[in-house]
Amino acid sequence: MLDMIIKNGTVVTAESTFRADIGVKDEKIALIAAPGTIQEKAAKEIDAAGRYVMPGLIEPHMHVAAPFGGTIDVLDFYSASKCGAFGGVTSFMDFSTTVRGMSVMQAVKERLDEMSHAALDYSVHAKFVEANSKVIGEVKELIDFGVPTFKMFTTYPGVMIEDTDILRIMDEARRCGGLCGFHAESNPIAEFTREKLAAEGKLDWKYFNEAKPNACEAEAVQRILTFAEYLDAPVYFYHLSTKEAVEMVRHAQARGVKVQAETCGHYLTLTKEKNDSPDGINFLMSPPLRTDEDRMALWGALNDGTLSLVTSDNEAFTREQKESFLDRDENGNLIVDFRKPVNGTPGIEERFGLLMNAVNNGTITLNKLVEVGSTNPARVFGCYPQKGCLEVGSDADIVVVDPEKVMPLTAENMHYGLDYSLYEDVTSKGWPVVTIRRGEVLVEDGKFLGKESTGRFLARRL
Ligand code: URP
Ligand code: ZN
Ligand code: ZN
Repeated sequence: MLDMIIKNGTVVTAESTFRADIGVKDEKIALIAAPGTIQEKAAKEIDAAGRYVMPGLIEPHMHVAAPFGGTIDVLDFYSASKCGAFGGVTSFMDFSTTVRGMSVMQAVKERLDEMSHAALDYSVHAKFVEANSKVIGEVKELIDFGVPTFKMFTTYPGVMIEDTDILRIMDEARRCGGLCGFHAESNPIAEFTREKLAAEGKLDWKYFNEAKPNACEAEAVQRILTFAEYLDAPVYFYHLSTKEAVEMVRHAQARGVKVQAETCGHYLTLTKEKNDSPDGINFLMSPPLRTDEDRMALWGALNDGTLSLVTSDNEAFTREQKESFLDRDENGNLIVDFRKPVNGTPGIEERFGLLMNAVNNGTITLNKLVEVGSTNPARVFGCYPQKGCLEVGSDADIVVVDPEKVMPLTAENMHYGLDYSLYEDVTSKGWPVVTIRRGEVLVEDGKFLGKESTGRFLARRL
């Protein structure tokens, strides 16, 4: 007896699209067979006629319950599971909250403890903020523990790591089989430009973008690529946003540098004009939104494989939180100052819709959606083929998508509990109607059925 059968659907993987029925048993995919040919009975049947059946999305870049900029975002790992599951996500990865003087392994374990409240399967990337002999010694320990992916910041005083320390961690990661990932923005360019704009009285939201010009990303990306090439170490870039960075990655890949990179839903769909309005504060994230030319270069890079993932970089703050660091004038009005708000935006739930719209307008194929949202995250971060595919023996992480279901990506329809959405004017045609994690239904009939603390730590190997 099977636990579940999903029948009559069109299976979509990163490689192909075909009609099949899928049988699930003991949390795994047990059978994939021609429609109508599975004879075994099942405890639950899902009729997927007219629907797509895809591997669950993986969100490898988000910040949940993560102290940042003097505040903390609104989600916890259970509420983030709900937002994720409605958007077709079945596994997610966050970052350790490492501070100086702390054991990175301890930071990872503390974070995993917080993540254990999740209803999705979860993992964590280890954040390094320094490289003394103790933390360098932890690189191998982390890899053996199932956390082989690391993150470093080239900006944000407090978490930013010195260049020499980057080289030390990168070298050890290469030796032990780990992967270093980077938030790559040039701190000198950002600081210098911010001061200059402020001295000129340019403080509107739109100057946030000018304070971090394309060169800000490009300088840091080029520096990290130079380090990677020099050490022959693999590297990963989080949230690339510019045509310049894409071009550098493309050229580096062509000369054999082991570099992989992502962009995010917002860089693919929004441009910097969004910041030039009273609501511009809602659209402040780092790196900032760019031009249409950059946006199109990112789509091109996804289609030619230069970029291999689309993530959300979800970090959801209320408008009140974003405004809480602003001063007020004598009449109580907020004084706009682009230097003050906390950076970060929601996105884990909308990611599916942004990609689906790109499928509908012919920018990418449905197989590409699966590749960049599920299969490549699993491959790059070391949990393939347990996750990221529909294969016999893989975890039964499955999303059933109704291609006709229309979902306006408004604050009201999303599940963050926020009073704004970056995509108030965007509607997705095609939306997940059933989300299944390891054979357990998390979303069905518009309801979240997931239970707290049912997610499982995903030990990963590269
Ligand atoms: O503005 C952003 N992206 N906030 C989240 C933290 C980060 O830098 O990825
Ligand atoms: Zn970042
Ligand atoms: Zn991030």
